Amino acid sequence: MKKLVILTGAGMSAESGISTFRDSGGLWEQHRVEDVATIEGYVRNPQLVIDFYNERRRQLPTVRPCRGHELVAALEQYFDVTVITQNVDDLHERAGSTNVIHLHGELMKATSSRQPNDPSQIIMLPADRLDIHMGDLAADGSQLRPFIVWFGEAVPEIERAAEISAEADIYVVIGTSLNVYPAAGLVQFVPDRTPIYLIDPKDVPWTASHRFRHIKKGASEGMEELTRMLKLIAED
Ligand code: APR
Repeated sequence: MKKLVILTGAGMSAESGISTFRDSGGLWEQHRVEDVATIEGYVRNPQLVIDFYNERRRQLPTVRPCRGHELVAALEQYFDVTVITQNVDDLHERAGSTNVIHLHGELMKATSSRQPNDPSQIIMLPADRLDIHMGDLAADGSQLRPFIVWFGEAVPEIERAAEISAEADIYVVIGTSLNVYPAAGLVQFVPDRTPIYLIDPKDVPWTASHRFRHIKKGASEGMEELTRMLKLIAED
């Protein structure tokens, strides 16, 4: 089967009702990034950061995957699919995608403040106890923190994501402004022979590059159109 790699961002979950970051009314208009999404912000005021992610986590059970998530999952019938997402929600998994790499962490998980990327410290938060409180401890006795990659922290999955991007036969980018590195740099690993489809209702800086075949639609409508196109490719 051809290797299909799909890089997704907040726009993938917009139609599920989860706010994007940089659209008008986005999360970064309501909160200061430096206060809630940086390691310095967490060290300065852990309560504020823990509350910010508790609020976002509480929203998750109230939303569901959109048609776009479902169509991404359905492509696993025709291709060897890897989803590389910048999103921390679990909507790709809930839609049925079985091979998802989360570059920026996962909202449903928590970890140690001392060694956040040590697998022995990472836990799945139970549905009946979604909030993290000051005083909750990780296995190593440090304060339990969100399993989120904040600005200023390493992105442990980026090397694997780059290797997978370099092997793609088809590359799809959905719902990301490609503003944030190193995630945005993944498109530079895509081989010249590999077509890159972009699904986004707006132009993003990269659309100027001839490499992108821009489907200027939302995630769900765009995935309907792309699925029709890709099914033809899968059959040849
Ligand atoms: N369908 C598809 N794309 C959409 C939709 C939609 N319905 N609505 C908006 N978009 C597009 C916007 O046009 C924009 O290009 O989704 C993109 C959202 O961009 P951002 O808000 O910047 O989100 P993202 O690119 O995922 O941000 C990357 O920044 O703050 C950090 O860690 C955070 O993972 C996040 C990273």
